[in-house]
Parts: sequence; C-alpha cells; structure tokens
Amino acid sequence: MFDGIAHRYDFLNHALSLFRDVAWRKASCRMLRNKAPSLVNLLDLCGGTGDFAKTYAQELGMPKCSVIGDFSYGMLYRSVLKSKESFAVQMDALKTPFPGALFDVILNGFGMRNLPDASLGLDEVKRILKPGGYFVTLEFFAPSNWFSRFFYNVLAPIFIPIVGAFFSGKKEAYEYLVRSVRGFLTVENYVLLAQQKGFEVEEVKACDFGIAYRVLIKKKEERL
Ligand SMILES: C[S@@+](CC[C@H](N)C(=O)[O-])C[C@H]1O[C@@H](n2cnc3c(N)ncnc32)[C@H](O)[C@@H]1O
Repeated sequence: MFDGIAHRYDFLNHALSLFRDVAWRKASCRMLRNKAPSLVNLLDLCGGTGDFAKTYAQELGMPKCSVIGDFSYGMLYRSVLKSKESFAVQMDALKTPFPGALFDVILNGFGMRNLPDASLGLDEVKRILKPGGYFVTLEFFAPSNWFSRFFYNVLAPIFIPIVGAFFSGKKEAYEYLVRSVRGFLTVENYVLLAQQKGFEVEEVKACDFGIAYRVLIKKKEERL
C-alpha cells in the first residue's frame, strides 16, 4: 500500500494536515533538546521518506549515524533521493536486523499504528535502544476527547479519502488511514502499555487539540 502512494506521500501529508505535520515533527524533535547526547546513533523507524530523521538533523544537529528503517522500498527510495545523509534499510519494524542496545534515539512518526501489533513494536524498540536512550512517538491515536472524536468520526472519513483519492488515485489507502486511527490505541492506553514494558514516559503532548500526540519515552538506565 505504501509503495503505491509513495510518489504522492509527502505532498498529501502536507496538504491533508495543512502543513502541520512539519510543525509536529519539529516539536517532537525539540522534546529531546538537552536530553539526548550530541553524537547519537539515530533510527527513524517506519521512517518512510525520511522527514523525521531530516527534521532531527535540522533541529538538533547531525547524528553520528542516521538510519531510516522501513519495509516499503518505494518510500525508502524517496528518502534516498531527498537526502544522502542517512542509511536507508529495508526492514520489518517488528524484527529489525540490529543487535541489542545500539541506538541512542529512535523516532517513529505515524508508524506504530501501522504495525500488526504495537506491543511487539515496543518490545523491539526496547531491545535495540541503549539503556537511557529515548523513543519518540508521533502518532494519530484513537480519539479520546470531543474534538478528536468529531474530527476522526465525522470530518476525516469524508474529506481524507476524497482528497487522498484525487491526488494519489488510491482511495483505499486513505480510507485505511482513518480506519487505522479509529482502531488504534488511545494515547492513554499507549502510555500504559509502555509503562507496563518498563519504559519511563517523560512527556505526552497533544498536537492541535489531540489530532496527533507526541510521546517521549525513555528506556531505564541499567542499575549495577
Ligand atoms: C504513515 S507512514 C509514516 C512515514 C514517516 N515516518 C512520516 O513521518 O511521515 C508509515 C510507514 O510505516 C511503514 N511500515 C508499516 N509497517 C511497517 C513494518 N512492519 N516495518 C517497517 N515499516 C513499516 C510504511 O511502509 C510507511 O512508510
């Protein structure tokens, strides 16, 4: 599905969110200011066309090593056309090819909702994150306030598939987008799940009244 919309993905992301996705990624990266070490190993998991990794480099400086991991070749291909500063690796987010405790920072923009099991996704993140490392989730969670309920139950099912179909020719991908948001965890349940897995949840911020949320999670330091 993502291969099929890759050529229009960035344009539609910006158009459907009225360019708010750019601000949301920036704000998500800024949550790491004064927290992450200066030369990080960075993974943009479900990184698609690489906008999250690119925003990180612009906001916080070039990582020591930057990897964009995604299973869609079409999306990764576009990440490479845009920037040669990251390695693009085709992979499954639930079974990454990396050894444990490799990354200082893992970003995930609008990816957790697309995994067959977000719980297994968090397990894999925990495995490959260094102790003390950070995981940033930027996601459309299932609506849990009146504004997001109105947006995702009334407005989005009408305008997102129409605009998506008009520009990409793939109506089903944009119907899936709305369906996947409504079928995903609420941000409250996502936080609980992360805490049950032993993560520390440091910050949870609503983007534009809960259309999206950014969540900053830390893997606990190891005690000797
Ligand atoms: C909505 S896009 C998000 C792209 C990008 N992170 C952004 O901020 O715009 C979701 C991405 O997750 C990828 N994806 C979905 N399931 C995946 C999985 N199991 N393993 C790796 N990538 C996956 C898709 O190929 C797609 O590129």
